[in-house]
Amino acid sequence: MSLPVTPKVPFGGDYNPEQWPEPVWGDDYRLFDLAGIDTVTLGVFDWGLTQPTPNGYDFSLLDRIVERATRQGRMICLATGTGAHPAWLARAHPEVTRVDFEGRRHRFGQRHNSCPSSPVFRRLSAELARRVADRYADNPSVVAWHVGNEYGGACYCELCAAGFRGWLRDRYGTLAALNTAWYTTFWSHTFTNWDEIEPPSALTEHWRGPDHTAFQGITLDYRRFMSEAMLTNFRDEKAAIRESSDLPVTTNFMGMYRPIDYHRWAEHLDFVSWDNYPPDNSSPHWMALSHDLMRGLKGGQPFWLMEQTPSMTACRDVNPLKRPGVMRLWSWQAVAHGADAVLFFQLRASRGACEKYHGAVIGHAGRADTRVFREVAELGAELGRLGGATLGARTPARVALLFDWDSWWALEISDGPSRLVRYQQVVLAYYRALREAGVDVDVIGVGADLSGYQVVVAPALHLVKDDLADRLAQVAERGGSVLTTFLSGRLDVDGNAYLMDVPGPLGPLMGVRVDEWDARDADVVNPVCLGAGADRVEVAARLVFELVIAEGAEVLGSYQADFYAGTPAVTRNAYGDGHGWYVGTALDQPGVSWVVRQVLDHHGLTGPYPDVPGLETAVRVTADGTRLLFLLNHDAEPVQVTATASGVDLLTGTRVESGRPLRLDGHGVLVVRAE
Ligand code: GLA
Ligand code: ZN
Repeated sequence: MSLPVTPKVPFGGDYNPEQWPEPVWGDDYRLFDLAGIDTVTLGVFDWGLTQPTPNGYDFSLLDRIVERATRQGRMICLATGTGAHPAWLARAHPEVTRVDFEGRRHRFGQRHNSCPSSPVFRRLSAELARRVADRYADNPSVVAWHVGNEYGGACYCELCAAGFRGWLRDRYGTLAALNTAWYTTFWSHTFTNWDEIEPPSALTEHWRGPDHTAFQGITLDYRRFMSEAMLTNFRDEKAAIRESSDLPVTTNFMGMYRPIDYHRWAEHLDFVSWDNYPPDNSSPHWMALSHDLMRGLKGGQPFWLMEQTPSMTACRDVNPLKRPGVMRLWSWQAVAHGADAVLFFQLRASRGACEKYHGAVIGHAGRADTRVFREVAELGAELGRLGGATLGARTPARVALLFDWDSWWALEISDGPSRLVRYQQVVLAYYRALREAGVDVDVIGVGADLSGYQVVVAPALHLVKDDLADRLAQVAERGGSVLTTFLSGRLDVDGNAYLMDVPGPLGPLMGVRVDEWDARDADVVNPVCLGAGADRVEVAARLVFELVIAEGAEVLGSYQADFYAGTPAVTRNAYGDGHGWYVGTALDQPGVSWVVRQVLDHHGLTGPYPDVPGLETAVRVTADGTRLLFLLNHDAEPVQVTATASGVDLLTGTRVESGRPLRLDGHGVLVVRAE
């Protein structure tokens, strides 16, 4: 089971006509036609409508909504509607609401608010999914099922505590094994009965929030358990859908979202979809990394861009507007990285509540002559011309970047060496350097097959489990390069320190040993000299300075200040036919880029435009071997380069000749079908 079968890139998004009087619906479809909108996601928060009372289901409004979309010839992504539970449910069964980290039992309110362990929630959410699927499974317009919405958060109630204990019994078998894994001789924590175990919260192991814990092992396991408890909710609903429908099932992910280990979820989704709301207006690498992470979840299978705003968000304190051309550019960026659908939140703006100022294709006045509507319609027309040319196409990456939720969690709940080291920032710096050098990158989990890659980059790989160290060594043995950084190879699967030299099981591959490390405030810089002779450059290093002792590795960079001036900061170790590269500190972006370029140059992988940082390139290859080359100008100014391939730009039909000048407008996009 894979992606929904569609003739072209589905274009449209979340549509909530239940919020509007029916006469407005006709206007909506007239405007959808103008904008080339062929796909609607329906019913995402409809539980209160479809089950208005404990024993009463009422699908009459959803029937009319689905019937209308069908009559209008749209593809439907139909939601089960369980992202928010109804008020009567919270009143009748107070245990369906969550208990928060501070131990407060929530009452009815907001959304994404159900306790994942509540038997009533589990039974009724699955029952609703069963009824929705059964009711609409035979409708040929339905192409996919959308379960829940943006799973996340955590619950600390008694039901979750009991679920946690059961999950721990399965994981450890005996209390002795659990006590060993959690290192409970520390601070008198030996457990003698499963019922003594408490969820790690502000009332138990934590202080100053979810990242400060006395027992990393307990907190790490609770995060794993919570992620799996919510996965169980998804699986409950999926199984209920399967009783009547074989159509693809998804739920909308959130990219780099810390609470949920998407690698553990991915096999249970038929296809991945995600919601792209970047933290600010200048984050092309953040978005690209998120897209690549999402594509990597199912071995490179394309994904759906389930949501993005056409113009602005509402949930931030300050919500900037996407500049002209930016929505189009970011939509094509998603396609370039593997999106097989481009969908918005939302098609018509809500009139009330907290999203009334959220951008929408159609605003409150229902006009078609707004800038935003016009840009949406232009993109709709463009996607119409593109047809199915990109569907199913794969990314031919020779470079992998490892992304690991366990390492993310373990690093950021650690006391020492530094709270200033943030996993996403370390990963993003390396990803950015790779992308600016012009290579396609697969962002993959630590369990993925590494045998197809020439370069594997593993930033801040704090926790190394299973046979990962061996598989990384094999990459180098056969001639590949493995790069890792400070704070890697420190912990085992339980979050306990390895009883060996740092970087633990990565030591032999890296040919270094680290006995000491220094952490300093963000404003303390230790300059690092990279390279030798005329190519020597000086860059800045911050946050953590590992005192690296070369044990066979060649020194490529060294600290310039403090008592460790002159000692190694960056090394390369010959291993088998390849190399292990070690970066012992948080280099600034030029420093990271310098190291990454060395690695890529060694393999001849650096792309054609490494000196035009605003110009992003990406390649997708279709099933018949056609290469699609995407060029995306993230700058507002035009850019001119030399074409490196001949072909036709699928968006304009213009020919591109290799060796000839190639011009892109500010925020311009080309999709060249190479010959
Ligand atoms: C999320 C949700 C939507 C909506 C948007 C607003 O992605 O899934 O329901 O709230 O955010 O940005
Ligand atoms: Zn709970």
